[in-house]
Amino acid sequence: MANVINHPSRFLHLATISLIILIIFLIPLIAFLNNNNSLIFTIITKPYFSYYLTSFNNQSHQSHYPWRFSWRNTFINSLEFEGNVNYPSSSSSNYSNDVSRAISPDFTKCGPVDLPPNAITSPYCCPTLATPFKFIDFKDYLINATYNKYKNNSSIIRVRRPAHLVDDEFIAKLEKGIAIMKSLPNDDPRNFIQQAKVHCAYCNGGYPQKHPFQDQKIDVHRSWLFFPFHRFYIYFFERILGTLIGDPSFALPYWNWDSIQGMQIPSYFTTPNSSLYHKLRHYKHMPPHLVDLNYDILSPKIRTQDQQISYNLAFMYKQMVLANTKELFMGSPYRLGDPAQPGPGSVELAPHNTIHDWLGAVDTPNHEDMGTFYTAARDPIFYAHHSNVDRLWELWTKLEGGRRDYRDDPNWLDSKFFFYDENLNLVRVKVRDCLDTKLLGYVYEEVDLPWLNVNPKPRRTKMQREAKKSSILASKPITKFPFVLDSKVSIIVKRPKKLRSKEEKEQEEEVLVIEVTELQSYENVKFDVHIDDDEDMLSDENHAEFVGTFVSLPHGNHGHKSNTRFMVGISKVLENLEAEEDDHIVVTLVPMIGKGDVTIGRINIQFMSK
Ligand code: C2O
Repeated sequence: MANVINHPSRFLHLATISLIILIIFLIPLIAFLNNNNSLIFTIITKPYFSYYLTSFNNQSHQSHYPWRFSWRNTFINSLEFEGNVNYPSSSSSNYSNDVSRAISPDFTKCGPVDLPPNAITSPYCCPTLATPFKFIDFKDYLINATYNKYKNNSSIIRVRRPAHLVDDEFIAKLEKGIAIMKSLPNDDPRNFIQQAKVHCAYCNGGYPQKHPFQDQKIDVHRSWLFFPFHRFYIYFFERILGTLIGDPSFALPYWNWDSIQGMQIPSYFTTPNSSLYHKLRHYKHMPPHLVDLNYDILSPKIRTQDQQISYNLAFMYKQMVLANTKELFMGSPYRLGDPAQPGPGSVELAPHNTIHDWLGAVDTPNHEDMGTFYTAARDPIFYAHHSNVDRLWELWTKLEGGRRDYRDDPNWLDSKFFFYDENLNLVRVKVRDCLDTKLLGYVYEEVDLPWLNVNPKPRRTKMQREAKKSSILASKPITKFPFVLDSKVSIIVKRPKKLRSKEEKEQEEEVLVIEVTELQSYENVKFDVHIDDDEDMLSDENHAEFVGTFVSLPHGNHGHKSNTRFMVGISKVLENLEAEEDDHIVVTLVPMIGKGDVTIGRINIQFMSK
């Protein structure tokens, strides 16, 4: 008997219609509810949606891993993509101003990094990625307060404190957080080694620039990206750590090596069995040994504690106060299509690089771990070190009533990076989003700045200095550029202007610019720079004649030698030396490490606006 109602095809038909209705009405409803951060809804639905991350590079150990993604974000993400813009040609000079030349890594094209010789790890530093590629924009992330718990705690400001002043309760939290990170599965982006690899990939050429500049590998060192990249990097590290220990107010400590009490490794980083302990460190530099902020890996200086402290403070003054233009402190502009490493800022060179060197082990091929970037972030102290570097950026911005950085340059502001957050979302950030630490939810506890007014004096009297200088000028040394820097050399440099007025000096800094070419990037290189000094009796950091240092860690640059530049402001130095009337300055370059591993292309004086 044929019953039309119960006919199977009729039933199928009904099922299809109900399914369509379900799709049309229910999914948008779900999206709506979830976009409104309905807590109950998220709790009910979250566990049922998971995305599988697949490794896109050929690291066999980074196989599938079932990370649960906040599925709400996949709605946001699916609306976004990283578009390629058509650029006129690969010649950098052809750009009109309305084409953005912000640097953005081609994140899906991460590849093996370039390592220095005899590297102790594999070159695979790429993170796991979701397929298809998805990310959240940091702006939406803050505005939508993606995570309910952070939304509800939005008044929490994380206060970063000096590492030598924290209490036992804090140390226990830090230890616990690092221990949890170390215990997570290898391919969890929050895993401690995965975090260290983030640094490796961004620092050793893991990411190409975008089309059509994919042959240029990105490097976040030696340019205006140095401070913002590292700010974001430790920001996400801090959030991950805080979440893992269930304390959203947790803030990284800063290793306050610019203060007298902070000039040694905080002792709790050196307790064996602690998660903060790290084996690959310089065995002689354990507390209470004082750090030398201008450390020279080849010939460490023998100094009393008091000497070391006063040298360190004088050095800090030079690197912070005298570096009074954006190029001098922040590093040189670095835009899409540009080769990497256009020029480092003062603090990046030292104390940042020098402390990396000071901490790296002596019996590893490239002073791993801290002494070279591909392994540096495997040492837990890295994050306290960079917390202080970040704090110095914050301080510099406010020095002398406020200093000008690059915030009127959209190419800097729109430069982008990608990081995983505490909930395993991939977040795309722009430099413009990190300029106010309060908006990022953290501040630095203020401490005294013992270096602020040090202003080193000349080592000799004006007469002594002039006598030496005129004998050098009379001997008329001729320098042919370029030359290989393999021994101490003094060069006469003409000043385009002398006796500048007070206003001129307030507006523009007189800057000594040294083109550094053919830099052997696989080696340690360091040379010191002196002005109007005596070659046979060179001044130390605590005198005005010593003006700065160029420091390069074993790096790797895909088989190439690097080209970059060293800059130092000399207006105040010349004032202190009473040399403002002089037509020339005598620049002495002193190779300390890597003699012959660098070529000097040119030296001149330029004026840079403050
Ligand atoms: Cu990316 Cu301290 O280095």
